[in-house]
Amino acid sequence: MPATHASKTKKARKVAETADAIALLKADHRAVETLFAAYEEASGKAQKSKLAQQICMELSIHTMIEEELLYPACRGETDEDLLDEAYVEHDGAKTLIAELMNGSPDDEFYDAKVKVLSEMIKHHVKEEEQRDGLFAQAKNADIDLDDLGKRLADRKQELKAHFKETGIPTPTTRSMKGAELEHGQPLED
Ligand SMILES: [Fe+2]
Ligand SMILES: [Fe+2]
Repeated sequence: MPATHASKTKKARKVAETADAIALLKADHRAVETLFAAYEEASGKAQKSKLAQQICMELSIHTMIEEELLYPACRGETDEDLLDEAYVEHDGAKTLIAELMNGSPDDEFYDAKVKVLSEMIKHHVKEEEQRDGLFAQAKNADIDLDDLGKRLADRKQELKAHFKETGIPTPTTRSMKGAELEHGQPLED
């Protein structure tokens, strides 16, 4: 029988209390995959809106703790190109997170933005988790993953509590410079 959303979330929380850095981050990946799957199944706009907000919250915190703690620890220890790509992939996801945070399921393209975000995250998670990916390289590097795991868990708790009060902040990019775009409409024949 497939695990329910609630039991998966409970499992993710348990992992987070005890896990090293990689186990904690992988548990985050599974949690957000569950939310994306729930969005695919959702039909009502209220439910979609709630799930999209949860996805944005999870991804905002996850990208922040990786950028504050994991990625700096990886610099000089793992493949440089892979790490640079990870920052750009995070920033690409943040543009869609910002779109979702400033939109609603009533908007044209909203479902498509959630779907494309899920596909971008799927690709990024693969790059982190695959054999010889960033996580595997971090495991083989001179990084104390137990200590890093504790710091990731602490920071995650802190941000979660903070954002519950303040709402999800505007994402901060690390590689993209916010070059201006012209907003048009899809063209007709
Ligand atoms: Fe990640
Ligand atoms: Fe990442």
